[in-house]
Amino acid sequence: MDPINIYEYEAIAQAKLTPMAYDYYASGAHDEITLHENHAAYDRLRLRYRVLRDISRRSTATTVLGHALNMPVIVAPTAFHKLAQPEGEIATVRAAGAAGTLMILSTLSTTSIEDVLAAATGPVWFQLYVYKDREATKGLVQRAEAAGCSALVLTVDAQIWGRRERDVRNRFQLPPGLSVKNLMPAGQEEFPQTMKDSGLAAYVASLFDQTLSWQDVAWLCSLTKLPVLLKGIVHPDDARLAVEHGAAGVIVSNHGGRQLDTAPATIEALPDIVAAVDGRIEVLIDGGIRRGTDVVKALALGARAVAVGRPVLWGLAAGGQRGVERVLELLRFEVDLAMGLCGAANVSEIGRDLLM
Ligand code: FNR
Ligand code: LAC
Repeated sequence: MDPINIYEYEAIAQAKLTPMAYDYYASGAHDEITLHENHAAYDRLRLRYRVLRDISRRSTATTVLGHALNMPVIVAPTAFHKLAQPEGEIATVRAAGAAGTLMILSTLSTTSIEDVLAAATGPVWFQLYVYKDREATKGLVQRAEAAGCSALVLTVDAQIWGRRERDVRNRFQLPPGLSVKNLMPAGQEEFPQTMKDSGLAAYVASLFDQTLSWQDVAWLCSLTKLPVLLKGIVHPDDARLAVEHGAAGVIVSNHGGRQLDTAPATIEALPDIVAAVDGRIEVLIDGGIRRGTDVVKALALGARAVAVGRPVLWGLAAGGQRGVERVLELLRFEVDLAMGLCGAANVSEIGRDLLM
């Protein structure tokens, strides 16, 4: 029988992945408090459902930045998909299209932007890390736009690396044949060899630009006609600044608990950010979303949609494109079920009053 929930996909993925790969995908920073809290915070929220509403015809469909999606669940950017499955990001992007949703492609992809976009059947956004080498960074933006990406997602919470102690112990490195494919033209595709740290942490420390600040948002917007979202916001004042600096959206994120440990769970940070943004731009959220009820709770607190990271990796490792399709279909099924049991026939009927 096929796995029936995300947790069963994780168990299969763990059995199939090398310990180093599973640790890289699963880990959080330091004591993994935020990693745990990202989902635990959803479990503390109660859905006060409504009854005697006709729920015979339901739809999970929505739009995100004008893209029509089958559900309010998109694929968060995660690195190195070929660690999970030889087809890597090609399998993921095909599954996202088949599921009627969109994929955010990571800068740290093991497949080139061009190859991923050539295989895409749905919308793709490009997640950007800003390198010290601003010409290389500009090249990524131009390639993403030229290849057909429909938005840029600037990650703002990871210019220095959170300490993932499992990766330190494992001295995390990519296996032979895998690299940061998009940075090959700049000669920045390989991790440094290090015997005392994660190779990825050493890569980031040597190449990512720690000077990144608000004026760089204007710089980025000057490079492209694409809408720019900021990913990694947890403070309402930063959400306000994002609106003032022309962001088309924000993704409330703590990087899946992989950056600053004891950062707030994203669902706890969401309400103040929704209030600060005050409907001026779309607010997405990621972190710890594993059930359809989590999605309904996020929408009830004002998120336009959610993004999932690790669940997609578990599906990819467990079953390639088909595995990712099944994970995304599982989430859509659970969102539909949760909506029906809440008395909501469509996403516009999911409101704040559903939460105690
Ligand atoms: C990530 N994340 C991430 N974020 C980003 O902006 N660029 C990236 O390349 C990556 N890479 C990455 C790899 C792995 C293995 C993980 C687990 C996460 C963070 C990701 O986009 C997202 O914020 C979290 O994964 C969301 O939490 P969940 O769904 O994994 O609990
Ligand atoms: C991570 C990166 C790639 O969290 O964002 O591993």
